[in-house]
Amino acid sequence: MAAERALAMATCTAPVNIAVIKYWGKRDTDLILPINSSLSVTLHQDQLKTTTTAAASRDFTEDRLWLNGAEVDVGHPRVQACLREVRRLARKRRGGSEDTATLGLLSYKVHVASENNFPTAAGLASSAAGYACLVSALARLYGVEDELSEVARRGSGSACRSMWGGFVQWQRGERPDGTDSLAHQVAPETHWPELRVLVLVVSGKKKPVASTAGMQTSVETSPLLKHRAEVVVPERLAQMIRHIRERDFEGFGQLTMQDSNQFHATCLDTFPPIFYLNDLSRHIIALAHRYNTHHGHTKVAYTFDAGPNAVIFTLADTVDEFVEVVRCSFPPATNGDQFVRGLPVGSAALSQELMAAVVTEPVPGAVQYILHTKPGPGPQLVDDPSQHLLGADGLPRRHA
Ligand code: PMV
Repeated sequence: MAAERALAMATCTAPVNIAVIKYWGKRDTDLILPINSSLSVTLHQDQLKTTTTAAASRDFTEDRLWLNGAEVDVGHPRVQACLREVRRLARKRRGGSEDTATLGLLSYKVHVASENNFPTAAGLASSAAGYACLVSALARLYGVEDELSEVARRGSGSACRSMWGGFVQWQRGERPDGTDSLAHQVAPETHWPELRVLVLVVSGKKKPVASTAGMQTSVETSPLLKHRAEVVVPERLAQMIRHIRERDFEGFGQLTMQDSNQFHATCLDTFPPIFYLNDLSRHIIALAHRYNTHHGHTKVAYTFDAGPNAVIFTLADTVDEFVEVVRCSFPPATNGDQFVRGLPVGSAALSQELMAAVVTEPVPGAVQYILHTKPGPGPQLVDDPSQHLLGADGLPRRHA
């Protein structure tokens, strides 16, 4: 019985998601309720994931949290909100009849260790994967099987979308208590097997303006954001769902680029303005448009979140050629052999016409590396106890 065990432990992994219809702006900052619905693609955990172990023991004297091996403040209000909500669900599960084992665990302190296999806060939605993973691991520890996107949302808005695989919509909801502000799956990751994702990592640095502060200034000052939330997003969401259902890359790609651009336009419309794109991001945008123009249709689509890294959506038959275009446009400085990571990429020879039309002003070393991935599943339970991030003493242990 869990109640008699000295230590109970659960480990989960959770994915990153990239929005193609962006969330930007809260109507309730405490409950994290958005001003508009959003839609994202969950990326495969073979390339990008957070792993989190949660443990409870009667021997623990305080709640503790480690991120990437370093202890951090467990008192962060959003971490506390997730802990409180999962514990609340655990208490009320099975129609209110309380399970002794869980009750035992619920009275113990927890230790949580979490690790990313990618740079934290580099605009790669690490908080989304992080909170989705925290909530998944805690839920597993306490045996909670409820819908958990509402809880993950309390950690970071976009985290609710990382609770599902494939193509995921976060419905803004109407109720003031947030009980209808949930994520659900529009289509599973198997729905569009040819879809590929290339993350162009240009900077591993932390973003200049955190999304929480940035989006509140936008809500307070940007008339464009208000128009976007009320008029533009509802129409675009319906269109985007149609493009995904029909696997229409032309429509999906164009709308993805337009929505990214409008999000960054609302950042410029914010006062004082916020800049997440830099010269290099603009260079990548222009490159994608030249490439599409050369081919006469949309073969690649970019999107940028609150940071300068570019995420490119494309189809499998375009990956080799476009990666070569990126390599020629941003010749790698030193790590030539590490330039392409993730799923395999074949070689491609570029025609002279393509080189002349698309690769105009190479910027050596500007792209650090390209990560090749694809849509993937939602959070997963890790069964193998050797993969726990906490040891039998409840403290972090290092993996080779
Ligand atoms: O959930 P947050 O606070 O990290 O906000 C994410 C906002 C964007 O990444 C810019 C857009 C989105 O929908 O993911």
